[in-house]
Amino acid sequence: MFTRRTTLSKFLIEQLKTSPDGQMLAALLIDVAAAIKAISAVAAKGALEGHTGSLDTINVQGEVQKPLDVMTNEIMLHHCDWGGLVAGMASEEMDAPYDIPTEYTRGRYLLLFDPLDGSANIDFNVAVGTIFSVLAHDKNSAPTEADYMQPGNHQVAAGYALYGPATIMVLTVGQGTHGFTLDREIGNFVLTHPNLHIPEDTDQFSINTSNERFWEPPMQRYVDECKAGKAGPRGRDFNMRWIASMVADVHRILIFGGVFSYPRDNKSSKSGRLRLMYEANPIAFLVEQAGGVASTGRGRMLDEQPQSLHQRIPVVLGSKHEVERIEQYHREFDTGTDKPFISPLFNERSLFRKEARL
Ligand code: F6P
Repeated sequence: MFTRRTTLSKFLIEQLKTSPDGQMLAALLIDVAAAIKAISAVAAKGALEGHTGSLDTINVQGEVQKPLDVMTNEIMLHHCDWGGLVAGMASEEMDAPYDIPTEYTRGRYLLLFDPLDGSANIDFNVAVGTIFSVLAHDKNSAPTEADYMQPGNHQVAAGYALYGPATIMVLTVGQGTHGFTLDREIGNFVLTHPNLHIPEDTDQFSINTSNERFWEPPMQRYVDECKAGKAGPRGRDFNMRWIASMVADVHRILIFGGVFSYPRDNKSSKSGRLRLMYEANPIAFLVEQAGGVASTGRGRMLDEQPQSLHQRIPVVLGSKHEVERIEQYHREFDTGTDKPFISPLFNERSLFRKEARL
């Protein structure tokens, strides 16, 4: 039974055998996978090792750090800094990029990551994840912050790990999106979800509706229409899911379809919540490679030129036809050609619609 399995290493060596520097990229992704196995083991200890609660420290995002945020960041750094593969690393948990220690050789890749996505869920034993993005660094000099400012369409690999009942690693090197499940007894990631494909149509949406009053009208219109169900303009019922771990919500979409959004809002920064370089871009790459669409609501995510390492960005991604509909609602709003949403239930303008453009 074990003899015909495709392990992650076998898969990567095969997939990258004809690409220049492919074996170096494969080696880096195997280091990332080793870090993910370590994080999976550490996270699984939960309260037994004191992994719940918060620290006194605040990260660059202004968020209170969890003990596991710090620990998983260290795990990623030290599984990947030694092998001569990486030129520098950047993470949600570090203000500035990490320089490779002088005793190690500098490599040709930049690794960006969110070591523990959804870490607010740790205290409740709900699924969390790790997200990573790999960019090329084709210079001999040490990278400056400007070298990281590459749009998502420059990514050479991206992926995430989901620490749920099973640990799953999903990745792309630009040849489809593939999922691997960790066989804990043997210690290998095994290909279990080859060529993931997001259906073009869906009746599921994922969004934190408690923020509805802060969204722009196009997003309010979309969600209002979904909630109106059969009686509304969409003529069918929709289902809503929100795990509050992006990786877990996106994983469901990669398996069953759906649309996920953390949109622009006027609650705080007006840019939404998610970070472009180590959350939105890697997930967008995976989604596109699985046949889905990833957008800011006003354009392709992977074409966004980053302005700063920790930049936030509005996110809309998943099943093609729903994401395109949301983009259309943004276009109509921006050009003033949208129609006010009339609730079919109450035959009046939605209470949530705001006239003011953000
Ligand atoms: O910071 C990222 C994140 O934890 C995502 O994983 C998740 O989708 C989102 O934030 C949850 O946000 P909220 O707390 O607003 O539901």
